[in-house]
Amino acid sequence: MDKIRIRGGKRLQGQIPISGAKNAALPLLAACLLTDETLILRNLPHLADIATMTHLLAQHGTELSMAGEHPGGGHMGHVLKLSAAHIASTEAPYDIVRKMRASVLVLGPLLARCGQARVSLPGGCAIGTRPVDMHIRGLEALGAVIELDDGYIVAHAPDGLQGGVVVFPRVSVGATENLLMAATLAKGEVVLENAAREPEVADLANCLNQMGAKIEGVGSDTLRIQGVARLSGTDYTVLPDRIEAATYAIAAAITGGDVELLGAQPDTMEAVIAALQQANVVVDRTDSGIRVCADGAASLTGIDVTTAPYPGFPTDLQAQMMTLMTVASGAAMITETIFENRFQHVPELMRMGADITVKGATAMVRGDSDRLHGAPVMATDLRASVSLVLAGLAAEGETTINRVYHLDRGYERLEEKLLGCGADIARIVE
Ligand code: UD1
Repeated sequence: MDKIRIRGGKRLQGQIPISGAKNAALPLLAACLLTDETLILRNLPHLADIATMTHLLAQHGTELSMAGEHPGGGHMGHVLKLSAAHIASTEAPYDIVRKMRASVLVLGPLLARCGQARVSLPGGCAIGTRPVDMHIRGLEALGAVIELDDGYIVAHAPDGLQGGVVVFPRVSVGATENLLMAATLAKGEVVLENAAREPEVADLANCLNQMGAKIEGVGSDTLRIQGVARLSGTDYTVLPDRIEAATYAIAAAITGGDVELLGAQPDTMEAVIAALQQANVVVDRTDSGIRVCADGAASLTGIDVTTAPYPGFPTDLQAQMMTLMTVASGAAMITETIFENRFQHVPELMRMGADITVKGATAMVRGDSDRLHGAPVMATDLRASVSLVLAGLAAEGETTINRVYHLDRGYERLEEKLLGCGADIARIVE
């Protein structure tokens, strides 16, 4: 299995191009199932999770063809043409769904288009139990009949989905996206209340509207959808990845560097930018994205951060922020409110010298600028893995990160992007 080796202490300087957002691309890919016409998606990141989703779509009968690279070369993402003219199978098998929870996003589109779907339950996950009850309850509110059979969600709506009001008991990105896609083809009006406001949900809604859907309230917590009889194809560009951009912003900060993040959209990153500024990191808008500079770890200040649904501080950046706090002066309190088991990076950071105490959903970090030293580490999920890369960049000595496949699920050409800014990083292929 591949490893990443980092020799820490190099100040990052230069420019990093930001890829298309994984979490926007996944639902956008699933949306191709809603139409018999061709959907063209641009700026797709080249990631293992995207490959898993395209594999799933292919077994539903979708024809996929690569339409080449974006002008400007490989740095601007891939273009994919998807045509689900004929749905060959409405089953999403366990073997694919178990690899990636977002596979469950085919449930709403298949049910809305074909009147039936059989989708494996995603099962457990390293960062918590992550049930899909809200996806199921929501579709039932639109008239679907759903039962659980041998680990599969078996859903029927032979006369199509109906209008209705869905009030989500808590904010869920995936449930909002599944219901949003299903609602576009419902008979009547669907209202989704307490909907997720994440930019990736808005990106999906914008694409669906371009395909002929009638969605109002995009970007708000109430989405009002007038169902239409059919959707058409379109040509859509995936928005830049705010989580990737913020991860590299933290890489610049933790190495006392000066990095411009090309294509980053600061409007989607306000909570993170505010947190970084509070920690004494300089973040400025530029014509091409944002520029992040810091004077070195000694200049960073500990701050308190609590994760929350958008526009709050993203749970997908909690691990990276915690790493930054291990080298900032003073104490920092990091509270995780979205997932119940998302501190798996803590023991690994402590092996690198971090001083962290976890009590329930809160981690107390006592930072010190020369606290981190290199070590062999590994992590069990994507964001935890990248938090160890950040620690390695700041640490004295050599860090080896095992189980690199987690990184390949969500960070496109990570080593190349960091190397380009002067990091001493290499992939060891075994
Ligand atoms: C998405 C993101 C993930 C991010 C998360 C929260 C994608 C592909 N993944 O995941 O990177 O960390 O949003 O911002 O976009 N829940 C239920 N019942 C449900 C659905 C969710 O209890 O039916 C709970 C979850 O266990 C979790 C919380 O709701 O505690 C939020 O989860 P959700 O927003 O659904 O996360 P995902 O869509 O899976």
